[in-house]
Amino acid sequence: MWDYSEKVMDHYRNPRNVGTIDDADAIGSAGSLACGDQLKIYLKIKDNIVTDAKFQTFGCGSAVASSSILTEMIIGKTVDEVRKITNKDIADELGGLPPEKMHCSVMGYEALEDALKSYHADGYIDLEELKGEETKEKMICTCFQVTENVIWDAIKQNGLKTVEEVTNYTKAGGACGKCRSAIQDIINTYYNKEKSEESMTTTQWILKVNNVIETQISPELQKDGGDIELVDIKNKTIYVKLKGRCSGCKNSTMTLKSFAEKILQDSLGSDITIIEVK
Ligand code: FES
Repeated sequence: MWDYSEKVMDHYRNPRNVGTIDDADAIGSAGSLACGDQLKIYLKIKDNIVTDAKFQTFGCGSAVASSSILTEMIIGKTVDEVRKITNKDIADELGGLPPEKMHCSVMGYEALEDALKSYHADGYIDLEELKGEETKEKMICTCFQVTENVIWDAIKQNGLKTVEEVTNYTKAGGACGKCRSAIQDIINTYYNKEKSEESMTTTQWILKVNNVIETQISPELQKDGGDIELVDIKNKTIYVKLKGRCSGCKNSTMTLKSFAEKILQDSLGSDITIIEVK
């Protein structure tokens, strides 16, 4: 029998914010009925602040509790603050979850991430209508429909080191087992990358960050007369001056800052944070 915190039991017995929002500004989902758990989340966003959140879930008590507390965590926060929430934050807010149930917190994180991908300042975008490559992700576990990105994020956010831990957090590998060697490869790649980053000198790190800024971000911003200037770097926190508006931002879900942050995160790791200096 698993040990649940009082908070988990409370949110399971009295889930908050259950339902839908008809005129939602962002909608995201994760899991599937075939896999036994599914979550759909609806957000109402005004002036860049989440003013309301509702959810519908099909799953166990931990899935209900994770979804319920997630809605409480995001109401009142800015979109940028919400983007920073991880599955670990959800589990911590619940006072912890049994290892075998951590996948419920990951499902909450995935649904939230999915919703934010669909969010645009001018209104909700149906991702199915976007034919961009961005929405295509490599499927690793076909039994549970778990993508490489989900596994990578779970390893990163929770320090997972074994295939069994990845299964607990994402369900991947928990059925036929065919994907287990692919999961091990992702674990190996992640820790090799981390090792090579650790051995990098400060100068090498600055050059690497600057290279991404100059070759990937600056050219985009310059298309509309904008630009980005590197001001300072403190480990994974990068201080920049931003101006203008990038053409990529007009058709995406992002602000100028989050556009630049995403490119840096994709190139250098998801723990990169940008601070805008005026
Ligand atoms: S493909 Fe992952 S468990 Fe079957």
